[in-house]
Amino acid sequence: MATYKEFHRRSIEDREDFWAEQAQLVHWHKPFTQVLDYSRPPFSKWYVGGETNLCYNALDRHLAVRGEQKALVWISTEVDREESYTYRELHAEVQGAASMMRSLGVKRGDRVIIYMPNMPEAVFAILGCARIGAIHSVVFGGFAAASLAARIDDARPKLMITADGGSRMGKPILYKPLVDESIRLSKSPPQHVLVFRRGIDPGMPVIAGRDVDWSELAAKHEGAQVPCAWLESNEPSYILYTSGTTGQPKGVQRDVGGHAVAMAASMQHIYCGGPGETIFTTSDIGWAVGHSYIIYGPLIAGMTSILYEGVPVRPDAGVWWRIVQDHEVAVMFSAPTAIRVLKKHDPAYLKKYDLSSLKHLFLAGEPLDEPTHAWITEGLGRPVIDHYWQTESGWPLLSAVPGVEKTKIKFGSPSFPVYGYDIRLLREADGSEAGPDEKAVVMIEPPLPPGFMTTVWGDDERYVQTYFTTFKTKMAYATFDWGIRDKDGYFFILGRTDDVINVAGHRLGTREIEEAVNMHPGIAECAVVGVADPLKGQMPLAFAVAKGDVADRKKLEKEVMETVDKQLGAIARPKAVHFVTLLPKTRSGKTLRRSIQALAEGRDPGDLTTIEDPGALQQIREALGVR
Ligand code: PRX
Repeated sequence: MATYKEFHRRSIEDREDFWAEQAQLVHWHKPFTQVLDYSRPPFSKWYVGGETNLCYNALDRHLAVRGEQKALVWISTEVDREESYTYRELHAEVQGAASMMRSLGVKRGDRVIIYMPNMPEAVFAILGCARIGAIHSVVFGGFAAASLAARIDDARPKLMITADGGSRMGKPILYKPLVDESIRLSKSPPQHVLVFRRGIDPGMPVIAGRDVDWSELAAKHEGAQVPCAWLESNEPSYILYTSGTTGQPKGVQRDVGGHAVAMAASMQHIYCGGPGETIFTTSDIGWAVGHSYIIYGPLIAGMTSILYEGVPVRPDAGVWWRIVQDHEVAVMFSAPTAIRVLKKHDPAYLKKYDLSSLKHLFLAGEPLDEPTHAWITEGLGRPVIDHYWQTESGWPLLSAVPGVEKTKIKFGSPSFPVYGYDIRLLREADGSEAGPDEKAVVMIEPPLPPGFMTTVWGDDERYVQTYFTTFKTKMAYATFDWGIRDKDGYFFILGRTDDVINVAGHRLGTREIEEAVNMHPGIAECAVVGVADPLKGQMPLAFAVAKGDVADRKKLEKEVMETVDKQLGAIARPKAVHFVTLLPKTRSGKTLRRSIQALAEGRDPGDLTTIEDPGALQQIREALGVR
């Protein structure tokens, strides 16, 4: 058996042979003629000339051997339902969805925005798009109308698919009025909105001629047979928007063939999930983790995938462990915040159920603190693998690869660079290689491996400018994370280098939140920073300059929070809004966010030689109640 080091070395030094081998894990309708075309750096084109289809690999390919095996199990503790679909049933549902979309004019290359909670119809829609070569863009249900409108304008969808509503902690959350509002705000509205009525909003508004009822249309397409469109490996499969340093989210574009291979390989080498086994990924389908490890990865691997709608502590903090027991879950994937939430509850829940089926628990999305890592490892008695990746990569960058070699886990560390990634820790000042235990920027030497984002949707230039221009002398991909490597080669991630924050595993741009705060008519300008939070990792904190005098601070703070809820969604709501008359800025007008953040976290504000007016920082101190 290869060691992880040897496996990694081969993936970099014999790149094309390595990935040609991995490509055998998926079905090719037409073989590729070139493994990698890297003639236009930093753009990588994988499996050139090959034709395949993600839906074929996820469903059709399994029918002969595992048609009667469960493919998808939906468990909702919100609406108290459980449904399961065999590969054959899912195949039929997906063809029905594909046929419906075609009847609404959706063709290969058209975009379809899906704004739905974790429910089976969302999976039918996603795979239905993949089947006909339409490009899906799933938007997380926590995003509000203005965010959704920005994504509509960028993706220009032919169709939007939604539900009347979702539910959180038993409380209904209406989706459809928000979709209506987003379409009203958008400049490129879709022709149709396909709505699945779950009975959550009996009074749901319907716009005649535009809105189409899912169930009524589905009845007409039952039993439809829709062939898979054979796509060239480099055609786009989906767009997933993610936050960066600007207020405008970036559309991360993924290909078809490279994505299929990356998914199949990661299920084998990293997650150790095989055909017939069950995986439980607790994410939302609107995030990269949901795309890759609720849907594509597990189904391509022939697994049974659990789609969960609900929170980890309802009806009680044992609900996930009961699912592991009842469904004999072999692989579980969650986020550190969820484990920190569970840690506040009775540890007896971890011992109440038979967890003997579970091989590993994987955690990602935000830093995993050592005490939480130790607590859950002890509680489960299984390896808990912290692994690090990004929406951009679509699959892990740093991880243990137990399918190749079972290496020792160090608490708080996502272990080592994953095969395919030439990861470097480079000094911010000059791009030179950092030594052991030296904090530096996590960068990747291109070409990037299969499955990695291929470009920013509709904007190649932005892709290059955003990710590849950190150093003048060297073209490397920037993760925008700080990292450190210890003398044994283990990596540790130390937070972002840019203005992106991570709230309970949700990635948000402080600029986006600032723009939302500024939408309040009483606010002149503001600065938003992320501050450490024991449960959620980070929380946004706002410092705002009001237009005129603030008569009632509490009232204005509440209004600002409501504005953020409405613009971006409640996940982005600041923990507090402090009012100041001046923001700390450099003489060239750049807000000193790092200094504000340092003060809010009780640290030294750092180098202040460029500050325009030191009085501004004094106001921040006073607002925070620190000296
Ligand atoms: O800052 C890193 C953090 O989350 C960012 C990526 O977030 P997102 O695009 O939402 O993708 C999540 C896919 C898992 C990273 O740039 N992050 C992710 N995983 C870890 C992490 N930080 C520390 N440790 C991790 N394991």
